[in-house]
Amino acid sequence: MNRLFALWGTTVGKKVAMAATGIVMILFLISHMISNVLIFRNPEHLDSYAALLRSLGPALWVARAGLLACVLIHIAAAWQLTMLARRARPITYAHHEYRVATYASRTMRWGGVLLFVFIVFHILHFTTGTLLPGWQDGRVGDNVKLGFQSVPVAIFYLVAMLFLGLHFSHGIWSAFQTLGLNHPSYNRSRRLLAWGLALAVAGGLATIPAAALLGYFK
Ligand code: HEM
Repeated sequence: MNRLFALWGTTVGKKVAMAATGIVMILFLISHMISNVLIFRNPEHLDSYAALLRSLGPALWVARAGLLACVLIHIAAAWQLTMLARRARPITYAHHEYRVATYASRTMRWGGVLLFVFIVFHILHFTTGTLLPGWQDGRVGDNVKLGFQSVPVAIFYLVAMLFLGLHFSHGIWSAFQTLGLNHPSYNRSRRLLAWGLALAVAGGLATIPAAALLGYFK
């Protein structure tokens, strides 16, 4: 445990924590995307999948707590790395490469903030139903169709999926870098994998609000 805290105290440790928690969230989102697109086969498939998850009882709560811990660790590491970078480089360079790096990190930072706001909204929307009048416990497919009847909400989800895709592709790329997989001969496959996964997950999830906007669920 002490070693973990010592590792967290270093810049490399924080980057490893970001990469590891990011990978856990990516794995969650791959399964989340696959389970959600079941709505196109039959909305009741989504209800059965949710019922199966709920039947896991305490194990589901352990998984939820683990996921929440990953989100919090990811944000804490991002925040501390940003502060360290600011302290280390208080004067802005006019150099082109530096500006490119800053643009990518800024997009990651603000995209990350938007995704956090999205996750809070999303849980209050579909999981607890607090922000979805007419929400019914266990009727997941119907709740999704109802939720996306609101055009601004469907558009908000689409924008969030766009940011998710950008965050994802850059995040996967950086995670490889942190984990030492940065040999120039892998760079093409690394880029392809990063963009392919981002497109599959964010694009797959985006098909649901997009289909709702096109009237598919009416
Ligand atoms: C269009 C995109 C998305 C759709 C249609 C969607 C759909 C859903 C639905 C229907 C639920 C409720 C499941 C249930 O009650 O059993 C849910 C829960 C959840 N979603 Fe999403 N989701 C989307 C995107 C995302 C994204 C991008 C994230 C994370 C960044 C995310 C994270 C979660 C989490 C953490 C839960 C709570 C899981 C639980 O506690 O059981 N979702 N989602």
